[in-house]
Amino acid sequence: MPSSVVVLGAGAAGLITAHTLLADGFDVCLITRDHTPGGQWAKERLYPGLKLNNVHGEFRFSPLEMTVPLDSATTGGRLSGHDMENYMQEFADKFLKDKIIFDTEVLRIHREEGEENPNPWTVSVRDLNTNSSQTLRFSKMVLCTGGTSKAKIPEYLSSAAAEKVRFGRPIIHSAQFGARLNEIMNIVASKSSNGSSASVVVVGGGKSAQDICAHLASEGIQVTVVYEKTDAFTAGEHPLPDFVRKSRMLSILSPHINQRTRLERFLHTTWLGAKIVHGNWNGIIAGSFKAMKVPEDSPLRLTYSAIWNIHTNDEGIPRDDGFHALVNSGKIKVVAPARVTGFAEDGVVALNNGNSLEADLIILATGYRSSWGDIFDERTAHDIGLHRRSLAENSGPDEWANYRTLSNPPPLHPENMKWSSSVYKGIVPAKNILRRDFAINGAVLATNDGYLFETISHWISSYFLGDRMKLPKTVEAALQHTERDALWLRKRHPDLDLSLNEACTSFSVFWTWPQFSDELLEDMYLPSMRSGRNWFTWPFQIISVDELATLHEERKANRRKNT
Ligand SMILES: Cc1cc2nc3c(=O)[nH]c(=O)nc-3n(C[C@H](O)[C@H](O)[C@H](O)COP(=O)(O)OP(=O)(O)OC[C@H]3O[C@@H](n4cnc5c(N)ncnc54)[C@H](O)[C@@H]3O)c2cc1C
Ligand SMILES: NC(=O)c1ccc[n+]([C@@H]2O[C@H](COP(=O)([O-])OP(=O)(O)OC[C@H]3O[C@@H](n4cnc5c(N)ncnc54)[C@H](OP(=O)(O)O)[C@@H]3O)[C@@H](O)[C@H]2O)c1
Repeated sequence: MPSSVVVLGAGAAGLITAHTLLADGFDVCLITRDHTPGGQWAKERLYPGLKLNNVHGEFRFSPLEMTVPLDSATTGGRLSGHDMENYMQEFADKFLKDKIIFDTEVLRIHREEGEENPNPWTVSVRDLNTNSSQTLRFSKMVLCTGGTSKAKIPEYLSSAAAEKVRFGRPIIHSAQFGARLNEIMNIVASKSSNGSSASVVVVGGGKSAQDICAHLASEGIQVTVVYEKTDAFTAGEHPLPDFVRKSRMLSILSPHINQRTRLERFLHTTWLGAKIVHGNWNGIIAGSFKAMKVPEDSPLRLTYSAIWNIHTNDEGIPRDDGFHALVNSGKIKVVAPARVTGFAEDGVVALNNGNSLEADLIILATGYRSSWGDIFDERTAHDIGLHRRSLAENSGPDEWANYRTLSNPPPLHPENMKWSSSVYKGIVPAKNILRRDFAINGAVLATNDGYLFETISHWISSYFLGDRMKLPKTVEAALQHTERDALWLRKRHPDLDLSLNEACTSFSVFWTWPQFSDELLEDMYLPSMRSGRNWFTWPFQIISVDELATLHEERKANRRKNT
C-alpha cells in the first residue's frame, strides 16, 4: 500500500530521496522554507564566485545528466554554484512538479504514540508568505534539513553581545553573504564616499571565509581574515586524470572502518603499505602548496591535517582570483594563528593574542550547527533516539590497533571523547530501527554527495518498503553498531569535534564513500563495486553515478524473488 512520506528539506538529499520514493510508489510531499529548490544550491543561497570542491560528473544523480560547464576545458570541469542551481531546478521541474511545498518553515515535529496509528508524524509548519500555520500528518518521514542550513554563531560573537558593548558595526554570517551582498557593498561605498576605505574583518579560516575574502578582495575591498587554522587543500597545474580523481584510488589510500580488500589490508596494516599511504598524501599536500606558490613561512600553511581531518578542499587549478593567490599577493591580510574573542566599543574586535583590529563590518564565517535540534519536540526526539549519547570511557580493546596508517595520531579533541551519535549508519536513529517509519539523508559526510545521497535514498526506500535487508534485529544490536562507529570516528578523526553538527556528521566516511556505498548496496543484497572488478584495474575504474540507474529494477527483482 502506498503510504504518505514527508521529506523535510529540498536540498540535494531531499530531492533525490523524494524522486526515489516516488518511483517506488510512495505518496511524497517535500517541504522547504526556501523559495526555490536545491537547498545550499538554491538561488537565494548562492554568492558570486562560488566554486565547488567537485567537478562535472561528481555531484549529480543518475536520472538526469548535467550540462558540461562552458569553461570545462580550462578548469577540468569545475562546477560553479550556478551549475548546481540550474541542475537542481531542472531536476525538480522534471521529476517533482507539484510535490514541493516552498516558503514553508517546519516549526515542530511530533510523533504520536500508539503502534496502530497509520499517520503518527505530525508536522507543524508556517507559510512564510502569509504567516499562517497548520499541522500536517504523515505515515513516514525523511529528514533532509542538512548540515549547512543553520548558522553557528557563538554567543560572544552575537549581535546581542555586540550591542551590549556598543560595537556599533554590522555583523553578518557567511550564510547570508549572497543575500546581503548589496548591503555590504553599500557600507563599503558610503565609507569611500567619505574619503576613507572600509575595513572588513572575516572570522574563521574555513572555505566560506576563503570564498568571501577572495570575492571582497577581488572587488578591491580591504579585508582581513582571522583564523587559528585554515582548511588544507589539493591543487595542481593540470586537472587530475579521471582514473585518479573519479576512481577508488583516493578512497583506498584512506583508512576505512572495514578492510574490504586485500589491497586495503596491505596499505593500512603493513609497514610498507603505511609508508606508501603517507608518502602519497604528503606528496599530494606538498605538490598542492607548490602549485599554489605558498611560501614556507606563509600563514596559509597553518592548515588542518589533510590526513586526519575533514577540513580539506579541492582547489584544482590555481586561479589568480582565488584565496591563496590573493593572500600571496598581499590583497588579503591574514591574522593567524588567532581567534576573535569578542567585541568592544566603536568597531573594535578583540583577539585572543591580546591584540585588536578595527572593523567597519564583521563577517562571521564560523560554520554551521545542526538543523535538527530546534524542530523536534523533546519527547519525540527522546522517543525515536535522536539524542547524542556519551561514550563509555573504557570502551575495550582497540579493534583497529593494527592500522599502521593510524599510528602517531594528533591529540584527541576534548569533545571527541564525550559524545557519539546514535544514528545507525548515519541514516536511522538506532532506537527507532524496528519501526521503519523515519530516516535521514544528508547526515553522512563524504566527498561525493551525489553518489552517496542516491545510494542512501534507495536504502531508505527499501527500509520503508520492508524489503529483505541486512539490518540489526534488535535495538541493542543497532546501538552497538553506532558505538563501534563512534569508536572508529574517534580513532579516525581524533582532533575533530564531530558532535558539533550531527546533521552532517552523524557518520563520516569522507574519502571512503565508495566503500561505504558498497556496504549500503550489500545491505540491500545488490551487487557492489559496480565500476568493475578486474583484479588489477579495479582501483582505477571510474565510478559513475550512472551505475546506480538500474537500482529500482534490481530492488524490485529482489522483492519478487523474496515473496
Ligand atoms: C557555501 C557552501 C558551499 C559548499 N560546497 C560544497 C561542495 O563544493 N561540495 C560538497 O560536497 N559540499 C559542499 N557544501 C556542503 C553542502 O551543504 C552539501 O554538499 C549538500 O549540498 C547538502 O545537501 P543537503 O540536502 O543535505 O542540505 P541542504 O542543501 O542544506 O538542504 C537542506 C534543506 O532543508 C531546508 N530546511 C532546513 N531547516 C528547515 C526547516 N526548519 N523548515 C523547512 N525547511 C528547512 C533548507 O531550507 C534546505 O532546503 C557546501 C556548503 C556550503 C555552505
Ligand atoms: N566552495 C565550497 O566548496 C565551499 C564554500 C563554503 C563552505 N563549504 C563547505 O561548507 C561547510 C562549512 O564550511 P564553513 O567554512 O562555513 O565552516 P567551517 O568549515 O566549520 O569553518 C569555520 C571555521 O571558523 C573557525 N572559528 C569559529 N569561531 C572562531 C573565532 N572566534 N575566531 C576564529 N576562528 C573561528 C572554526 O574554528 P574552530 O572549529 O576551531 O572553532 C572553523 O575553522 C564545509 O563542509 C565546507 O567545506 C564549501
